Amino acid sequence: MQKRLISICLLISFAVIVACKQEASSDSKPAYPGIERAFGTNLNVANLPDYEGQSVPNYISKDNTDGNEISNEVASLGRVLFYDRKLSVNNQISCSSCHIQAYAFGDTAQLSTGINGKTSRHSMRLINARFSTERSFFWDERAPSLEEQTTQPIQDHIEMGYTGEDGDSSLNDLLLKLMAIDYYQELARLAFGDELLTEARLQIALAQFVRSIQSFDSKYDAGRQQVNSDLEDFPNFSTEENQGKFLYMTATGSGGAFCSGCHIPPEFDINQFSRNNGAIGVAGDPDAVDLFNTRSPSLRDLVNPQGELNGPLMHNGNFKTLLSVVNHYNSIPSENQNPYLDGHLRRGPQGTQQLNLSEANKQALIAFLKTLSGNEVYVNPDYSNPFINP
Ligand code: HEC
Ligand code: HEC
Repeated sequence: MQKRLISICLLISFAVIVACKQEASSDSKPAYPGIERAFGTNLNVANLPDYEGQSVPNYISKDNTDGNEISNEVASLGRVLFYDRKLSVNNQISCSSCHIQAYAFGDTAQLSTGINGKTSRHSMRLINARFSTERSFFWDERAPSLEEQTTQPIQDHIEMGYTGEDGDSSLNDLLLKLMAIDYYQELARLAFGDELLTEARLQIALAQFVRSIQSFDSKYDAGRQQVNSDLEDFPNFSTEENQGKFLYMTATGSGGAFCSGCHIPPEFDINQFSRNNGAIGVAGDPDAVDLFNTRSPSLRDLVNPQGELNGPLMHNGNFKTLLSVVNHYNSIPSENQNPYLDGHLRRGPQGTQQLNLSEANKQALIAFLKTLSGNEVYVNPDYSNPFINP
């Protein structure tokens, strides 16, 4: 009898425990278990980063958004894609392998490493990619929009490998792979209302994240806010920085270096009509030429807040210092072999630009270029890797 009572009691308490446990687990069951497992507190669905509400200074007017307005949900999906090594066939390389936040989303290596070796050109910084008149992307402008650019590295044999050729997996294989992952099912539902991932959705999301990467807290911006025009001296600049700004902005016929003709302030984006700038070499091949690189990333954030270069410069990464860049424009190499040199850099039928800058003026130009760097973009958690196990 007593034994029976004990077993009944045990049974009841067991049932209570199970019931309580179930209740507890249904209470604390995360709404987005996949997202929680992969990202923990790095990505909180109830409190997503405010990509869509970021403010832009009133003197900034260029914008290539073209209808793909940033939303916090879609840009968050873009952020995860940007940092996910699963976007490469061997799960080793993400966009962030070659576009590194600490280097203004560029790379300090001359050529970046993909799944099948080195890229043929230097990686580009991705700062303020949204704020340009030029809509075409890559050094040679071969991608007609940022959206179309974003899935090209995925389909590149060297970079991420989903070429769909010669036995390689295709982009469709990648979409199926991603759609089977719980955090993408949840992120796609948040972003688009269902779990489908297509190439177009990848492009929309990646482009939104890249456009959200903005940097407007530089010394230049602090000065620009206090004046009406780039041509006025900035009250917060040293004499040298103002002299560098004068050289940057002023036509060559009037004693300047006229960088502003092609890298147009206040966005410092590339003039969409620019041809090449005379830097026509190929990394690692002294005999080859590469003539059609007519795009530059914004000249903002060439250096980090400590003044160190965020990586070698130009499409070939052959320029290892700002001085080497200034020396290049000071004396553009002869036009031989370069029918595509921009008219601004020619002089007469055969000649090329010779600025004859003094050493002090070269240093002034460099001092001005350094004022174009911000601080926050390098450490802003909203642009950082959200994976718990990166
Ligand atoms: C293996 C290195 C590597 C990987 C991986 C990589 N990139 Fe790039 N990225 C580059 C290089 C190199 C260039 C310049 C290539 C050229 O112009 O020929 C570039 C250029 C770009 C540009 C053009 C910027 C401009 O101003 O024109 C964007 C945008 C970009 N990458 C975004 C991405 C995204 C998004 C991903 C991931 C889907 C990605 N990249 C993956 C190396 C890489
Ligand atoms: C005729 C147009 C033109 C003029 C004028 C011009 N640039 Fe450029 N600049 C370009 C182009 C195009 C590129 C990309 C070239 C390449 O990589 O092949 C570039 C690239 C650069 C880069 C490298 C950017 C990077 O991300 O690697 C720097 C720095 C630069 N220019 C600074 C200057 C300065 C300083 C001046 C004035 C002394 C100047 N530019 C004048 C067209 C111009």
